[in-house]
Amino acid sequence: MTDRVIIFDTTLRDGEQSPGASMTKEEKLRIAKSLERMKVDVIEAGFPIASPGDFDSVKAIAETVTESTVCGLARAKKADIERAAEALAPAPQRRIHTFIASSPIHMEKKLGLTPDEVVEQAVAAVKLARGFTDNVEFSPEDAGRSEPDFLCRLIEAVIDAGAGTINIPDTVGYNVPWQFGALIKQLIERVPNADKAIFSVHCHNDLGLAVANSLDAVMNGARQVECTINGLGERAGNASLEEVVMALRTRRDVFNLDTNIDATQIVPTSRLVSSVTGFPIQPNKAIVGANAFAHESGIHQDGVIKNRETYEIMRAQDVGWSDNKIVLGKHSGRAAVKTRLEDLGVEIESQEALNEIFARFKDLADKKHEVFDDDLQALVSETEAAATEEKYRYIASRVVSETGETPKAEITLSIDGAEQQSSADGSGPVDAMFKAIENVANSGASLLLYSVNNVTDGTDSQGETTVRLSKDGRVVNGNGADTDVIIASAKAYISALNKLEASMPREHPQRGDV
Ligand code: KIV
Ligand code: ZN
Repeated sequence: MTDRVIIFDTTLRDGEQSPGASMTKEEKLRIAKSLERMKVDVIEAGFPIASPGDFDSVKAIAETVTESTVCGLARAKKADIERAAEALAPAPQRRIHTFIASSPIHMEKKLGLTPDEVVEQAVAAVKLARGFTDNVEFSPEDAGRSEPDFLCRLIEAVIDAGAGTINIPDTVGYNVPWQFGALIKQLIERVPNADKAIFSVHCHNDLGLAVANSLDAVMNGARQVECTINGLGERAGNASLEEVVMALRTRRDVFNLDTNIDATQIVPTSRLVSSVTGFPIQPNKAIVGANAFAHESGIHQDGVIKNRETYEIMRAQDVGWSDNKIVLGKHSGRAAVKTRLEDLGVEIESQEALNEIFARFKDLADKKHEVFDDDLQALVSETEAAATEEKYRYIASRVVSETGETPKAEITLSIDGAEQQSSADGSGPVDAMFKAIENVANSGASLLLYSVNNVTDGTDSQGETTVRLSKDGRVVNGNGADTDVIIASAKAYISALNKLEASMPREHPQRGDV
């Protein structure tokens, strides 16, 4: 057993399964590069067979990431495994992660398969995957509610077939820590060829226990933890990467284990994921929440000033909190913008792309004297969106909002290249703006969520808005940023409309037949 815990990030796969968290290929690439900078060992880039878009994203990540292993998910099905292998082919280090459900309820009700058939299908899948790569991971889905005797039999068979990583998912977040830890211990002790594989865990947070369950599993021999940035993931999410990593690091006295992670990349990556998905980070979220290192009460402040360790068990700068230092202003030149973006891991591919970003930067710097790293990230998202062929484009808007009067909004949009104008009244300026857009777009989508967050501190901050729309079972998030929150809201609504246009039907890995 090693003294290192492998960190397997599934933000781009399980994280993206959160309703509304779907990301574009460019957004996924940006997150993958940030994960690579953080020195994540394995990046689960997606479920390639889900749709052509998912395939392209995994392939693009496989072509780009060189330091981390790139992984693709595949059900225990020939077509899934072949598709995953094809998408992963360009990656210097690649892994196929195949799975099939093993709990009585999943085998009977979801798959309609007998336990023998599940073993047979799992073994065939692992053998097929081994034909494409030596690095194969197998998961018995819903292991947390599976019978240990059956799990032992299944795991032994897939290790014999060539699986080098055995991942034990608590798919529905049902376990409690001591029970889950005991399950891992039992499996490692009872499976005769357990020494030929690394045991991994993948915990969901339905009872708020995902991190605790993962850590108990580590105490009992698991040497890979599957987790996501900000705990994003199906339903209540997955174990949060930042909490797992910092618990292992801060309590090394208890665990006596290391990870490869460069923790200073945690906060920038967390912010990037939040801004791309539009899922805000709650202020009291451990490690990455705005209040995680803020000392509000007088007593605490006094203690921290006298000796930081009176109330702080970690240092903010160790997880990447900076003073959000001013990097650029309106006198900064093109080279300074390019260099700062490169420091943030954003590669500018052409002179035209740099010109476009620089023009937007100048606009922003005119409105807002101090341009921070987070502003730059928001600006890159905006530029990427604008560079994509899109049906709807924001051109201009006007809002009238006076005490005692009904707010009114006017919008000029380009739809398929043709300019259109519209206006509407609403209960507030944002409501009026969304109605004005709908008057010309006629999307018929339902608004599920609208939120505004400031990108940086201060009233001159850009407002970063998220609009979540749903239509015909598809859910998308659109984002917009501007120092004027009404314009940011209009841009977010338009971005969501464009994502609805672009969204394709995709298969969900854990639903349907296998
Ligand atoms: O939660 C789960 O069981 C999964 C598997 C596909 C590993 O995400
Ligand atoms: Zn999962």
